[in-house]
Amino acid sequence: MNHIRLRKNNLCVENVSAQKLTKRYKTPFYCYSLAQLKDNYQNMKNAFKNIEPLICFSVKSNSNPVVLKELKNMGSGADVVSLGELLKALKAGISAKKIVFSGVGKTEEEIVMAIRKKVLLINVESESEVNLINKIAKKTSRKVSIGIRLNPNITGKTHEKISTGGKDEKFGLVYNDFINLCKKIKKMKNLNLLGLSVHIGSQISSVTPFKKVLSVIDKIIKKTKINFKFIDLGGGLGISYYQNEKPFDLKQYAKLVNKFSKDKNSKIIFEPGRYIVANTAILITKIIYIKKSNRKNFIILDAGMNNLMRPALYNAYHQIIPLIRKGRFAKGNIKFVGPICESSDEFSNQKTFSKIKEGDYVALANVGAYGMTLSSNYNTRPTIAEIMVSNSKHKIIRKRQSLEDLVNN
Ligand code: LLP
Repeated sequence: MNHIRLRKNNLCVENVSAQKLTKRYKTPFYCYSLAQLKDNYQNMKNAFKNIEPLICFSVKSNSNPVVLKELKNMGSGADVVSLGELLKALKAGISAKKIVFSGVGKTEEEIVMAIRKKVLLINVESESEVNLINKIAKKTSRKVSIGIRLNPNITGKTHEKISTGGKDEKFGLVYNDFINLCKKIKKMKNLNLLGLSVHIGSQISSVTPFKKVLSVIDKIIKKTKINFKFIDLGGGLGISYYQNEKPFDLKQYAKLVNKFSKDKNSKIIFEPGRYIVANTAILITKIIYIKKSNRKNFIILDAGMNNLMRPALYNAYHQIIPLIRKGRFAKGNIKFVGPICESSDEFSNQKTFSKIKEGDYVALANVGAYGMTLSSNYNTRPTIAEIMVSNSKHKIIRKRQSLEDLVNN
């Protein structure tokens, strides 16, 4: 069930009318549904119940402390890519034994901390990184558990800027380099090669590229004869941003992974971000002005690209929903834009929209993943509040940045 939906033409987050929230909280703000978060996590868990994978939520998609804590309470681990994310995951109570540290450019400081905290795996992406980890491990006389990230030379159909699995990308090690590095690591006394990891990109809507990845992994395992204790399949599962878009076939993916893991005694790890959080939130924003210019109607919102970067960065589409739907707006060229001084500060173009006027509110949908985490202070605008709804209750889960803090820093 979708917990954020129109009820009698009134957009509701669970049992709370979004319009009512605008009376309590200053726009723009992000608003989450806790029930949706729980459903999404359980859905993923259920789909893979046969193999009981470790789900390491990808913190880069959403690092709100309450979101992390709720996920931790359901048993989630974390996929982190920086010292900041590592510390946030630990602070949310996620056990280091459920944390994987990914990323092509981990610094010495980050590696030291990852070792000190005893994370489950440091997923390495280059020979230089392996050498540095080995050096640090030697100093601390510890054996450090690592995984190696494979670059399978497989790309899913997605935006080029979020595709990571092609052989010309900076991510992971291509086939031969992977095999050679495995051999080297095996000779290193302070490293324990426990994992193979892979992540081919984000917002992948078909299971076909994942199927190809599984067969490349099979080939690598045969070749290296390594019995990896962990196989980390990354994230990347797409969601439906468009209303009629076919949802990602999780059942089909689960079937493939079940079959893949049958002849292995490896623990499967997933690192989903978007699939768990994208549809848990809307961005509620006010129409400041409506400006007719040439043949266009510009609907100027108080939320800008600094609050939601995805449209400007990836031409991403986020459905815009009026908080109160009232019949059709005059047909025409309707452009929803933000107040930022850049022409890329645009959210969507529509041919029709519900009747709206200045002072009304609308919501941008599916912004729970890479919404708040990609936001910035551009144009010296404060970062905005995050609100969480559960049933008929709502609370602030991150405060809007104060003007004082903004101006003094
Ligand atoms: N694991 C690794 C190693 C990753 O690099 C990523 C995402 C994930 C897991 C989680 O992927 P997900 O399940 O969310 O697709 N800012 C972009 C997405 C960038 C994704 C970066 N890596 C966007 O807004 O679409």
